[in-house]
Amino acid sequence: MVQKKATEIFSQWASSGKDIGMEANHSPAVDVMLDHLIGSQTSPFSIIDAGCGNGWVIRKISDHSLCERAIGVDGAQEMIEKARSFDGDGQYFHSDLLDWVPNEKVDYVHSMEVLYYFKQPDQLILHIIDNWMNRNGTMIMGMDYYEENLKSHSWPVDLNTYMAMLSIDGWITLFNDCGLSKVTAFQTNANNDFPGTLVIKGKKK
Ligand SMILES: C[S@@+](CC[C@H](N)C(=O)[O-])C[C@H]1O[C@@H](n2cnc3c(N)ncnc32)[C@H](O)[C@@H]1O
Repeated sequence: MVQKKATEIFSQWASSGKDIGMEANHSPAVDVMLDHLIGSQTSPFSIIDAGCGNGWVIRKISDHSLCERAIGVDGAQEMIEKARSFDGDGQYFHSDLLDWVPNEKVDYVHSMEVLYYFKQPDQLILHIIDNWMNRNGTMIMGMDYYEENLKSHSWPVDLNTYMAMLSIDGWITLFNDCGLSKVTAFQTNANNDFPGTLVIKGKKK
């Protein structure tokens, strides 16, 4: 069977309301990621959520008193329509991440459960570093699909879409090879059944 595009699948998820369950599932890990990123923030900042889905992370971050600009980008039309319907004042863009460039670069790029949908994730990381991020900006990405999470291995077949499978070390190497500095990785929200969301962070030199 011909594989579907991830953006097509997630547009359908938005239409059928599955985006809300996804928000609930991802929220505990995203809270940890945001705490790492902006938990001790003392100066104004700007941020992009790459593959923002229905925009729930952008709405959460926008409440931060020091947030000057928060932008969501997603390639699923229905996700972006939903984001705009929830938050008419928010900045949400419908685009493939590889094609999109912000008007102004930002301090932070956040992304949850998106990077592995790309056949060449390094291409996306390099595009973000070159075209989205300020010097010394930080990128943080969360993923539940990785080699050490054995239960995730069936997802490409379950969803009938492409997913790039890398180990924790593989992702760390990829971030380093893309030229990011201070690359760190950790797993959060693990339980008996789940080794945790893999979170990788790196800084633009
Ligand atoms: C698993 S969902 C996660 C959504 C959101 N980050 C969240 O945590 O609720 C993956 C998202 O990545 C988006 N996506 C996948 N490939 C994309 C691409 N090439 N360009 C833009 N968005 C993409 C999908 O449309 C989908 O909304």
